[in-house]
Amino acid sequence: MNITVISGSTRNNSASYKTSLYLQQQLLSLDDSNDVSIFDLSTANLPMWEESLDLTTLSKPQSELEAADAFIFVVPEWHGMVPPALKNIFFLFTGVFRHKPAYIVTVSAGSGGRYPIQEMRSTVYKNTYLNFLPVNTVIDRVNSIIDEAGCYIGEKQFVANRVDEGLRLLLEYSKAFQTIRKSEIVLEKRFPNGV
Ligand SMILES: Cc1cc2nc3c(=O)[nH]c(=O)nc-3n(C[C@H](O)[C@H](O)[C@H](O)COP(=O)(O)O)c2cc1C
Repeated sequence: MNITVISGSTRNNSASYKTSLYLQQQLLSLDDSNDVSIFDLSTANLPMWEESLDLTTLSKPQSELEAADAFIFVVPEWHGMVPPALKNIFFLFTGVFRHKPAYIVTVSAGSGGRYPIQEMRSTVYKNTYLNFLPVNTVIDRVNSIIDEAGCYIGEKQFVANRVDEGLRLLLEYSKAFQTIRKSEIVLEKRFPNGV
């Protein structure tokens, strides 16, 4: 399965990136035939969307995202919100997420992380046709759970167990959605946007 982990922070050495490393390692340990890449917004160097932007200049990241069967969104809570650079990718790459499953993992240095889940779920699905798993995972006090190398250092296994469930579900959904994407009604693309 081809899984893309989108690290939603534009900061260097972000908690989102080290969490993405951890998720990548966990997915490979579940099945090393998985192809797991990290799409890191701190190095992707993407322009902010504007009307005059020539989207054909973004064909490389577009193809990278298009190849994914499923996504994991690692979302830091910034001012109680999803960072603008992450929302921006839904303007830049409109077709790549269509009828694919996605697992949301939020991170916070403190005890945030709930608001971005609500924001992703309430606003992102419509035109993207993304399918968010019914489970998501909040990683509070992320610096005491995952270290710089993406290793789990939490004293308790609670977050690790949550992540394990989320990743296993994502892999099962990925298989099912490959079938769904080949169905007549999906291929028909009757409406460009959801309602
Ligand atoms: C601009 C900005 C706003 C932030 N706002 C919040 C917030 O509202 N709630 C919260 O729990 N943490 C907040 N934080 C702290 C993040 O939780 C912290 O930076 C954490 O490491 C996740 O972000 P990162 O992936 O960029 O490292 C904020 C951080 C930044 C840079």
